[in-house]
Amino acid sequence: MSDRVYLTTPLYYVNAEPHLGHTYTTVLVDTVARFNRSMGREVVFQTGTDEHGDKIAEAAAAGNAQPRQYADRVAGIFRDTWDECGISYDHFIRTTDDYHVTFVRKMLARIHEKGDIYFGKYGGNYCTGCERFYADRELVDGKCPDHLVEPVWIEEENYFFRMSRYQNQLRQLLDDSPDLIRPAGYRNEVLGLLREPLEDLCISRPKSRLEWGIELPFDDNYVTYVWFDALLNYLSGLEHCRPKDSEAFWAEANHFIAKDILKPHAVFWPTMLLAADLPVYRHLNVHGYWNVGQSKMSKSLGNVIRPLEMRDRYGLEGFRYFLLREMVFGMDSAFTEDAFVTRFNADLSNGLGNLVSRVLAMQKRYFDGEVQTGGQRRPEDRELAAAFSEAETRAVEATEGLALHNALEEIWKALAATDKYIVETAPFKLWKDESAHTRVGTILETLCDALLHTARLIAPFMPETAARIGALLGVEIGPLAHPTPMWGKNFRKGHRVSEPARLFPRIETET
Ligand code: MSP
Repeated sequence: MSDRVYLTTPLYYVNAEPHLGHTYTTVLVDTVARFNRSMGREVVFQTGTDEHGDKIAEAAAAGNAQPRQYADRVAGIFRDTWDECGISYDHFIRTTDDYHVTFVRKMLARIHEKGDIYFGKYGGNYCTGCERFYADRELVDGKCPDHLVEPVWIEEENYFFRMSRYQNQLRQLLDDSPDLIRPAGYRNEVLGLLREPLEDLCISRPKSRLEWGIELPFDDNYVTYVWFDALLNYLSGLEHCRPKDSEAFWAEANHFIAKDILKPHAVFWPTMLLAADLPVYRHLNVHGYWNVGQSKMSKSLGNVIRPLEMRDRYGLEGFRYFLLREMVFGMDSAFTEDAFVTRFNADLSNGLGNLVSRVLAMQKRYFDGEVQTGGQRRPEDRELAAAFSEAETRAVEATEGLALHNALEEIWKALAATDKYIVETAPFKLWKDESAHTRVGTILETLCDALLHTARLIAPFMPETAARIGALLGVEIGPLAHPTPMWGKNFRKGHRVSEPARLFPRIETET
């Protein structure tokens, strides 16, 4: 992995407010960004909003607003939500930003000049929800498989991008870089799409039908198709915020999306880049879908999960933990409040939270909070250190491979080893024997070391909790790039830790 990375979320449509799905991708990329920073890499993390097109114009009209006014309001809600959730994005882009509009027009002109954009007549089944035409074979019972509505037949003269010309090049690219699209299941899906001849892509809408878009530089009667506009954010935003070294970041571009927008990202986008003579991104990382219980999340079913409501009810850290621990990258997952509460109580309240308060309580009770340094280490102490060192190696490897649920599992194995260490060394029993007090001091110092290591490992996943543990211990939590804190060397003589605190009060449910 290079020392720079560029990480992106999709640009979310402003016709809906942030929900569980948007939050998952954003929290996932935030975790990957924090992890990479902790590994000593320079990160550009970009998110933002997709604001042009039919869907948005319709939503604005439904609310009696001008599209711009409407987009300003909802883009603000997205940005505020991510700020309130502590998302560490470096750049927030809106497709209505001037520099983006200029960039899109420049790219359109470049591809047009090259001869890869032509004018023609086209009739097709259009789904406004997806903002794209559907081939007959893609429809299920005559309906869009995603939105379950019949598409509308639209026939008009439009501009087309010669996507078909790049079919072989794209296939070659997928052969040359087998990890371009991850996990492999989605790569295979794309290879499947490429077995059929690729059609050219309609990239304009006549202004008579849609005004809310970026005007084509070569015909002011047309605006550009929303995907052709939105996909270019990944480059326009990067060039805008890193004008001097955007190329180096682009070489390590990692897009994160869910499976719903695989085709635009795996077919439209790379062929657009090839046509513009630009290098293709490094990885397209595709995750599955969150359902709510057995159903799709939808406004009409009234089961939309909102991040700020979850924060107010249970705290953000628990929500982050659940999302990252529960979803296997690439697979679908089901969200239920019961599963959330069960995991929260087991892993956070009884697990991590209980361990932290137990260690600090003993430290307080036996030594008035003062860490007893310099004691003799025993094999069981070294075994616990080894468990953490193994957890670190495995968690780092899993996170690099996007198996974040495995990374957390590995960290929790180290926590289980710590609980076992407490049971086996039994400091609360030893304390009854005065001659064993020095040993109890060393056991507790080892446990404080374990908490410090825990904080360091969970920091990308649960940054606030890691900071709280660091503050309770009264020590800096170093990044993963620094040498691992040495056991028995982290606390100076006379250092005091704080009084115990409950990090994750148990969630009581009415039964
Ligand atoms: N505007 C386009 C993307 C343009 S990117 C150049 C778009 N927007 S969207 O608002 O519909 O967002 C889709 C994305 O939101 C998904 O790819 C995923 O990242 C996230 N999710 C929305 N619902 C989701 C679930 N139910 N489950 C998981 N993630 C989902 O498409």
